[in-house]
Amino acid sequence: MIISVKKMAKEKEEVVLITKDGIRHDGRKKDDLRDISFQVGVLDRADGSALITWGRNKILAAVYGPRELHPKHMALPDRALIRCEYRMATFSVPDRKSPAPKRREREISKILAEALEPSIFNYLYPRSVIDVYINVLQADGGTRCAAIAVASLALADAGIPLKDLVVGCAAGNLYDQAVLDLDDVEDKEGQGDMPLAYLPHIDEIVLLQSDGVFSPDLYKTALDMLIPACKKIYKLQRDALKSKYSQITEEVADASGKEAKSKEKAKKEPAKPAKDGKKEAKKKTDDKKEKPGEKAAKKKKFSKKSDKKIDDEKKSSAKKEKDDKK
Ligand code: CDP
Repeated sequence: MIISVKKMAKEKEEVVLITKDGIRHDGRKKDDLRDISFQVGVLDRADGSALITWGRNKILAAVYGPRELHPKHMALPDRALIRCEYRMATFSVPDRKSPAPKRREREISKILAEALEPSIFNYLYPRSVIDVYINVLQADGGTRCAAIAVASLALADAGIPLKDLVVGCAAGNLYDQAVLDLDDVEDKEGQGDMPLAYLPHIDEIVLLQSDGVFSPDLYKTALDMLIPACKKIYKLQRDALKSKYSQITEEVADASGKEAKSKEKAKKEPAKPAKDGKKEAKKKTDDKKEKPGEKAAKKKKFSKKSDKKIDDEKKSSAKKEKDDKK
């Protein structure tokens, strides 16, 4: 079965979505993920931050808190409020997106908070708020799942105590075949989309949505694909966190090593005594002072010059007198 569709309204090229061998339009197999990479601690002014590149998706998450909640009437007496804001940049999609938050962004903000909350020890911060801001800079399908994964990493970067990291991934129905990690074309042309969020260490599903048509068999196949995929993404999240903290440890070790070396050097080469310094200063002032002989010679030279001047003046006045007599 070869299914061919137009890739996007603006892109006129025809693409084969899935071949009979199960090869997708971008060369992936049914259970292949797109390339995923995480970067932790990318913003200086946020308490925690992370950036994810998932295929062509680029999403930035920033965490502020736990902090005082305003307005105060929203405060929860027994735990922190987890407040998420999911936004798509106007330039993140092929057709310019309106900057005003619409129904879809409100829905995703809500489900993100609900998916992240079970992973946080939020009872440690009663009456406070943890704000999570998610900005989609470039979208290509599956942004809510990528947003969950990157937000969880930003929470960890903020030092908020977590039970586990949250991983998100979606599977879909592409012409009655279950496929993993739909991109934008597959999401729009496919018959179903099933985003899932999972706590791999605790083995708990915290979000499961379903949009479109899934037969019971297809549903099960999709779920069976999703759990191992989430475990793969979990490993990438942990590696990203570890690489940030190992880098910090290296920097601290380097700094303390340098300090120890300079202390050792200082011990080996004691600073020159102040006496020497005084001597040096005295020498300099002595150099500036004129030697007694030099001064006399200078004086002599000057007096010689002035004697000559007087003689010349005497000679010229005598000559003038002579001329007057004449
Ligand atoms: O992103 P996700 O699949 O989680 O959510 P969706 O509502 O199923 O949206 C699927 C995709 O549609 C997004 O990832 C974007 O690539 C695209 N989209 C778009 O082109 N224009 C919008 N205004 C919103 C979404």
